[in-house]
Order: sequence, then C-alpha cells, then structure tokens
Amino acid sequence: MPTGRALLLEGIHTDADAALEAAGLEVTHENGALTKDALDAAMAGVTVLGVRSKSRLSAELLDRHPNLLAVGCFCIGTDQLDLRDAARRGLAVFNAPFSNTRSVAELTIAEIVALHRRLGDRSRELHDGIWRKTAAGAHEVRGRTLGIIGYGHIGSQVSVLAEAFGMQVIYHDVASKLAIGNARPVESLARLLAESDVVTVHVPDEPSTRNMIGTSELGQMRPGAMLINNARGSVVDLDAVAEALRDGHLGGAAVDVYPTEPSRNDDPFSTPLAGLPNVILTPHIGGSTEEAQAAIARDAASKLARYLVEGSTRSSASVPEVDLPSPRPDRHRILHFHRNVPGVLGRMHTLLAEIDANIAAEYLQSDPEVSYVILDVESDSVEEVAERMRSIPETIRMRTLS
Ligand code: NAI
Repeated sequence: MPTGRALLLEGIHTDADAALEAAGLEVTHENGALTKDALDAAMAGVTVLGVRSKSRLSAELLDRHPNLLAVGCFCIGTDQLDLRDAARRGLAVFNAPFSNTRSVAELTIAEIVALHRRLGDRSRELHDGIWRKTAAGAHEVRGRTLGIIGYGHIGSQVSVLAEAFGMQVIYHDVASKLAIGNARPVESLARLLAESDVVTVHVPDEPSTRNMIGTSELGQMRPGAMLINNARGSVVDLDAVAEALRDGHLGGAAVDVYPTEPSRNDDPFSTPLAGLPNVILTPHIGGSTEEAQAAIARDAASKLARYLVEGSTRSSASVPEVDLPSPRPDRHRILHFHRNVPGVLGRMHTLLAEIDANIAAEYLQSDPEVSYVILDVESDSVEEVAERMRSIPETIRMRTLS
C-alpha cells in the first residue's frame, strides 16, 4: 500500500477524504487557493495535489516537485495546468467532467416551468410593488414539446425529467444516441426547431457548435417558442436572441452561459438580454450545487485512489489510459511511463528475461509522445526488477506496487 500526503486546496469537499485515506494517504485541506510561494512550500512531500479552478500549476512549479504523482482537478475542466507538459512528466491528471450533470438538468427543468409561467416577470413586478395577476401567456408544460439539442449526459437527463412532467420529448444529436423513455430522435436541427415549444441546448463548445443558434435558426422556431442555453456561451448568438425577443417571435429565454463571463464575483457584466420580458439570466450556476461539489470530490478522489493503488489511469485527462485488474498478491506491479519510441517494450522484455522474471500480465497505451505500461511480474526480487526498468534511458517515471 502506498503512503504519502494529499494536499487538497480551495475548499474541496471532504467527501474526497475517504477514498484517499483508504489509498494510504494522509489528507490535508486548505480553504483557499495558495499564492505561488505558499503553494511551492506546501507541496513539499506531497504525493497528490487537489485543486479547483483558482490554482495555477506552472511547469516551473512542477519542476520543483518531481515526486508529485498525480493532480486532481476537482472540477469540470483542467485549465490549471498544461496537460501535454503533465503527460511528458508522467504526471497523471484526473478531473470530474460529469459530476454536475444532474444539477444542470434540474436547473433546465426549473426554467422550462418558470418560462411557461413567466415567473421571472411576475416575481420582478412584485419586488417592485406591482400586483399583476393574470393567466395570459401562462401555460402548463404538460403535453408541450421539448426539443433537446445534444443528447449526451445532460440532454438525456433532461429528457427523463421532462417526460415525468408529461412533456413530449424530441432530440437531435450528431451522434447516434439511444432514445430514453418515449423520447424521439429527429433527423435534423431544422426539424427539431420547427416542432418544439421549447428548445434547450446541451452541446459542447466546438467549432461546429459556435453560433449554431442564430437569426436563421431562431426564425425556424415556432412563434412564441422559448430557448434555453445552459451549455456554453459560444453556442447561441445573444444579439439574435435579443432581436427575436423584441420582435415577439421568441416567447422567452433562459441563459446561464455567455460569450464572455466575469472572472470574479461582483465584476461588471452586461448582456443584450438585460431587461427583456420573460428572460431568466443566471451567472453560470448550472452545475453549482453542494451535491455536485460532493459528487466531484468522490469522483476525482476515487480515480486518484485507483491510480495510487492499482496504477489505473482510466479517464485520466493527461496520460494514456491503462487499466488492469487489481494486482495479485504474488506478483509485483510495475508502472512505467516512457518516451514513445520504437523498441522500449522489447528491451523491457529482454531485461526481465535476463533475470528470469516472468511477465504475467501487461497492458501498454501510447499517445504520440508518451507511453504508459503496467506490467505484473513474477520475480523474487522486486528491487532488481525496478532497477532494470529504471535503467531504460527512455524512462520518464517508474513506480512499483508490491
Ligand atoms: P456530453 O459530451 O455528454 O454531450 C454533448 C452531446 O452533444 C453529445 O451527445 C454530442 O454528440 C452532441 N453534439 C455535439 N455536437 C453537436 C451538434 N453540432 N449538434 C447536435 N449534437 C451535438 O456533454 P454534457 O456533459 O451533456 O454537457 C453539455 C454541455 O453542457 C457542454 O457544453 C458543457 O460544457 C455544458 N455544461 C454547462 C454547465 C453549467 O454550469 N451551465 C455545467 C456542466 C456542463
């Protein structure tokens, strides 16, 4: 069992602790991000570092801590460090990209109902002392058609919840996706736009999705239909949405993500949608719930723990993914990162054969620059095996589990 320290920064949820402690680590928490110098000092002797969005791990900092085995980005993205550089160091980086799926799906459902009842407007009026009781323009969602663009993790969850409200669900995805419940795929975006009472977008930010909803697409929507974007700010043209709301073609919109977003709370913010009727604006909080934070902590920590205990890099954001069943007690597990050049594996086999070490299991994966291999070896001397593996000049990093 490995031993070492895990340093978790930025108030990472304590649900991370159990898995890391079970992997033999002593876990320390810091509530905030640390300054460059404080982080450098705090990383002495640290095996696993956990960060959220505010920390930056420069190449210079990582150079000073070669014994750091893995980094957990306890959030959705991995902007905290250069993943290619991490791979070249054999530094395994893990994140938790889908732990807030349910939170986004629930917000979307809330907005579908809120837009149909014009809750944003009614609430704002009462805050301003205006009593305006009316049924005009207010609808049940039961029986109405929801169009989901992007039927991935979030889109398919929205589909399940919307059906429970009695909605008809159609979806469009560029990949072939199995329909859940009674949802129905439609063959084109145009068809989805024409058939939906409310359209919700759940696609990634990619060149093919940039401004995928603009003036032309809004024009293809039903008069009075509504639009929700809780995906990425690049996907929807907000000037076009503002125009469609002003001319009354669009009946409402809910937006959580923007082309440019403030980096800090209380920084100035403006959007062409401000002040328009039946528009719900939220500050990129789709995935921001305490449950999502706890789920992120458990997900990232369990991946880190598996890497420490078994060497598994499954779903690593930086290094090639290798996963072998748990090592048997009578075998030594060798975890070896090396430069991806021809002949390294052959040399390993020769070096092990020379000392009569039998390779009982082996799995290698490579990216263009880096290879990672897990070897389960039967040998009397793990030290001798390790020494031979380390002698290979292309070695980047080597670890043994016994
Ligand atoms: P996912 O990768 O599971 O699903 C995305 C789906 O979109 C895939 O099925 C893909 O095939 C499909 N797709 C890609 N290009 C398409 C196109 N041009 N037309 C139709 N379908 C297309 O992603 P997930 O986890 O469901 O996330 C969806 C979006 O939500 C992402 O942009 C993500 O960044 C965003 N997000 C927003 C959050 C928030 O706080 N508002 C929190 C979490 C995710």
